[in-house]
Amino acid sequence: MLENDIKKILISQEEIVEKSKELGQRLTEEYDGKNPLLVGILKGSIPFMAELIKHIDTHIETEFMVVSSYHGGTESSGSVKIIKDLDTDVAGRDVIFIEDIIDTGRTLKELKELFEFRQAGSIRIATMLDKPEGRVVEIDADYTCFTIPNEFVVGFGLDYNENYRNLPYVGVLKEEIYSN
Ligand code: IMP
Ligand code: MG
Repeated sequence: MLENDIKKILISQEEIVEKSKELGQRLTEEYDGKNPLLVGILKGSIPFMAELIKHIDTHIETEFMVVSSYHGGTESSGSVKIIKDLDTDVAGRDVIFIEDIIDTGRTLKELKELFEFRQAGSIRIATMLDKPEGRVVEIDADYTCFTIPNEFVVGFGLDYNENYRNLPYVGVLKEEIYSN
């Protein structure tokens, strides 16, 4: 069972659902009548985005991009690659990026610059987790559900070598898993 590989649970499913609900209500108020475009960054944002949008009670559209910064392992490689781009024109649109976690900040900084270049009407960032100690470039989320210490976490979309995304909570792996 996956649970056997987890050292500790950092954030429970209930806490994530509760925060997603609060954020969804806030976005409902702030974006009512604007038909914002929520851009999920695959694959990590899927469970959080799925939870979040259920609590947004006004019209939205969803899109997805595939971006890669980690190429396996637990350290950021420092280069951001767009593997799948949007199918939609973002000029004039109110864009909200949905992320699982902001660590170095490189992914979102580059995406934000790209969308400014594409003349999005407004750009905001909503993230489930923020690791401010990991930051190497200047970027902040507009909406953060949880701020966490500088630890490598898995679950609720977050992976270690593509595994553990399906855990229903955010947890820390046992050290022996990395050394295998
Ligand atoms: P950034 O460009 O360093 O901010 O990286 C953000 C991306 O790195 C996230 O979307 C995750 O895919 C990955 N990442 C950063 N920290 C973690 C972690 O603790 N566990 C799993 N993936 C992480
Ligand atoms: Mg990711």
